[in-house]
Amino acid sequence: MDHNTRIILRPATEADLSQIMALDQAIFGAYGAAEDPVVIGARLAVFPAGCVVLVEQTSEGVVLGYLTTEKWATAREPALDEDPHLTHKPDGRILNITTLAVGPAYQNRGFGEILLQHAIAIARREQCPQILLETAHAERFYRRHGFTKVGEREQRGIPLHIMQWLLPPLVPPVTVFGEE
Ligand SMILES: CC(C)(COP(=O)(O)OP(=O)(O)OC[C@H]1O[C@@H](n2cnc3c(N)ncnc32)[C@H](O)[C@@H]1OP(=O)(O)O)[C@@H](O)C(=O)NCCC(=O)NCCS
Repeated sequence: MDHNTRIILRPATEADLSQIMALDQAIFGAYGAAEDPVVIGARLAVFPAGCVVLVEQTSEGVVLGYLTTEKWATAREPALDEDPHLTHKPDGRILNITTLAVGPAYQNRGFGEILLQHAIAIARREQCPQILLETAHAERFYRRHGFTKVGEREQRGIPLHIMQWLLPPLVPPVTVFGEE
């Protein structure tokens, strides 16, 4: 990727699935946290407004990173490989980041931050005042962006940190002395 390459964020489509699955394997396969390709495909189908890819705007359209989310009605611990047909609630007010990942060759260039800011934008748009996710290795990255750790769990022998982000409260009305 040279310096003139344009990077865009756009909705993830079925045509991106093979690249997303390859990234999932490359990033999470190394420590046994890769997910079922059927589940990843279902996320795009069930909540397309919550799934985006970061793409090189070239004829090859290389996917550099991706974000998938779903909405929940009640807070709970996330889990790998859950069927979004069962877990996504269109009227839910909690945004669960099921995956946020940047390809190994493209990490540490700010792309993760772009994806995370977009997740927060999705939460605001979908009127979700709370975001939940779990991460094995990126606790510091999320803390730096205002998330706090609310729990720990283990799946497939992998220790996972559960992180939460809460929409900052609106500033309450301020009384100005002298005004009616
Ligand atoms: C975590 C991740 C999304 C960050 O994306 P990025 O584009 O590298 O991040 P940015 O350039 O915006 O910011 C760099 C930060 O990411 C951290 N980071 C970079 N590579 C990382 C990796 N492989 N694992 C964990 N954190 C990583 C850096 O340490 C830095 O954090 P710091 O400022 O607290 O030191 C990305 O590295 C990644 O996909 N890692 C593996 C998958 C993962 O852990 N995803 C999150 C759980 S769903």
